[in-house]
Amino acid sequence: MNYFVNEKGYFGDFGGAYIPEMLYPNVEELRTNYLKIIEDEDFQKEFHQLLKDYVGRPSPLYLAKRLSQRYNANIFLKREDLNHTGAHKINNTIGQILLAERLGKKRIIAETGAGQHGVATATVCALRGLECVVYMGEIDIQRQAPNVARMKMLGATVVPATSGSKTLKDATNEAMRDWINNPLDTHYIVGSVVGPHPYPDMVAIFQSIISEETKKQLVEHTGSDQPDYVLACVGGGSNAMGMFYHFINDENVKLIAVEAAGKGVDTGHSAATTFLGKEGVLHGSRSILMQTEDGQVIEPYSVSAGLDYPGIGPQHAHLFKTLRGEYVSVTDDEALQAGLRLTQLEGIIPAIESAHALAYLEKMKFTGKENVVVCLSGRGDKDMDTYLKYFGL
Ligand SMILES: Cc1ncc(COP(=O)(O)O)c(C=O)c1O
Repeated sequence: MNYFVNEKGYFGDFGGAYIPEMLYPNVEELRTNYLKIIEDEDFQKEFHQLLKDYVGRPSPLYLAKRLSQRYNANIFLKREDLNHTGAHKINNTIGQILLAERLGKKRIIAETGAGQHGVATATVCALRGLECVVYMGEIDIQRQAPNVARMKMLGATVVPATSGSKTLKDATNEAMRDWINNPLDTHYIVGSVVGPHPYPDMVAIFQSIISEETKKQLVEHTGSDQPDYVLACVGGGSNAMGMFYHFINDENVKLIAVEAAGKGVDTGHSAATTFLGKEGVLHGSRSILMQTEDGQVIEPYSVSAGLDYPGIGPQHAHLFKTLRGEYVSVTDDEALQAGLRLTQLEGIIPAIESAHALAYLEKMKFTGKENVVVCLSGRGDKDMDTYLKYFGL
């Protein structure tokens, strides 16, 4: 079974580039150049130097002792929350800004939900002196205010998306519209493993540093590079794909992807895509998405802005359909409780997105021997308001 992209841009039945004609030249320019640029020696050198000196990689693989006691397994946390700007998103924006420079682009656009991808994009634009415009849903601008402030201070223009559910899907629509109108000088830094080919593959490659490091670190901790389980939350799916990437062909490693059930999968207020969705096209690729009988996208809901998305990337759809990955979901309440639990057991305040992955540990059964890696995709500073209100602190 091939779990990776084929020469046509597909992962099994999913992927491709379903784009308006106006976007064709941009996407084609990327498609024909991305691997050449990424595999170039100079690119690799500059990418890894920045990941080390600027982002602070490798991020630690931390054996969480009190969490391990609670679950009767060795629980390791891959600390993407310790990266510069506070999440995994910076791995991808460093890669894409270097690529945009090599394509001669002067203007950068991005969409953002939780604001972490927006901040990571604004950061690399400041670093390289490029203009930056970030689209963000109006609701997300309110619930992730600290990240909006950071983007502004970094010199980015934050444009509110006011249609639909005023969240990530709508911000992505606006960013695509901008790209159609500015085809020549602009690069669109997509923030997850979504969008037309080659984005899902390209973003997965940049994020694959997560599992590349994890394998080496596991050998130091356990003597083997194979854990029993790896877990990650899934919005579009970039931290999960980074966490899964180098384990995909290790068939004895179980891959668990945790989606946001919101208020519950049956409540009409959910973002549990694989549970509620069907195959279709969203944001330029064939995947699985939440849609009505006649193919209209259903507005998603999650307390977590980064998981509040009605689709998943095409590689995830393929892992789901082939049963290579197990796709599950947890509710807002379960995630928020898991966030508090990690904070009080380990002294680490996680992003509400990452707390979804942690929450699933409550539903697993262990024998005391298992090695389990959870991708701690980001830190919770941006979510303090939501946590404090929820717990009445
Ligand atoms: C900390 C954090 N984790 C996870 C996500 C979800 O994105 P993805 O599924 O692409 O990793 C986000 C998105 O904003 C995020 O900020």
